[in-house]
Amino acid sequence: VSVGVVIPAAGQGKRMGTKESKQFLLFEDQPILIHTIRVFETHPAIDEIIVVMKEDEIARTRKLIQKEGFLKVTQVIAGGKERQESVYRGIQSLDTDLVLVHDAVRPFVSHQAIDRLLESVQMHGAAILAVPMKDTVKQVDDAGIVEMTPDRSRLWSVQTPQAFRREWLLEAHQLGLVREQLATDDSMLVEELGIDVRVVEGEYTNIKITTPDDLILAESIQQMRRKHV
Ligand code: CTP
Ligand code: MG
Repeated sequence: VSVGVVIPAAGQGKRMGTKESKQFLLFEDQPILIHTIRVFETHPAIDEIIVVMKEDEIARTRKLIQKEGFLKVTQVIAGGKERQESVYRGIQSLDTDLVLVHDAVRPFVSHQAIDRLLESVQMHGAAILAVPMKDTVKQVDDAGIVEMTPDRSRLWSVQTPQAFRREWLLEAHQLGLVREQLATDDSMLVEELGIDVRVVEGEYTNIKITTPDDLILAESIQQMRRKHV
């Protein structure tokens, strides 16, 4: 089976608040996006990578990718207003059997976690990485009053990559469009099709770089890895 990766990288990084979008911030002298692409470029099971970028940064992104000599990146295409739209465009431009969708700003995903995810998606057709919630979670109403406390032992914090048979994900996005569903992850759209999505244990270090304190966390994760390699 052929495996493609869509990397949505067309966001503005509003919560990071830097002038430069966070996927371009330098980490260990290289843009975060480049670190993320490298994980998949160097993974033997990955055949093709598509990067989805803001229109006005496409040329610059292509240059960065060329400079690194990444051979698996076949296209850098324009994204949409919402992440969902960016992903949809990405999967439309792919023709692999399986697709992994992975945030450009999660550079710490490991090959071992990707291996576990691939094993599950090959068997079941839909699988996502997640870690058990450490915090207790409350559902809160508009007035700031706790409505209920879901059982923590069943709560998982989900990450990317999320992996699917490409045709299923395509159909899921099409239905999402028709129903005007705004999903916060791709799995939600696939769940709507009535498909069972398998949860595969990820790693707490696979953080999404979102706010400035995540950059400090990223440094620590990097330091920890240096010690263990
Ligand atoms: N993304 C995208 N297209 C969009 C919005 C987001 O491709 N229209 C991408 C981001 O570039 C990022 C990933 O989706 O790699 C996860 O989104 P998020 O962490 O929310 O990034 P931003 O949307 O850039 O940040 P913010 O929400 O703080 O503005
Ligand atoms: Mg966003």
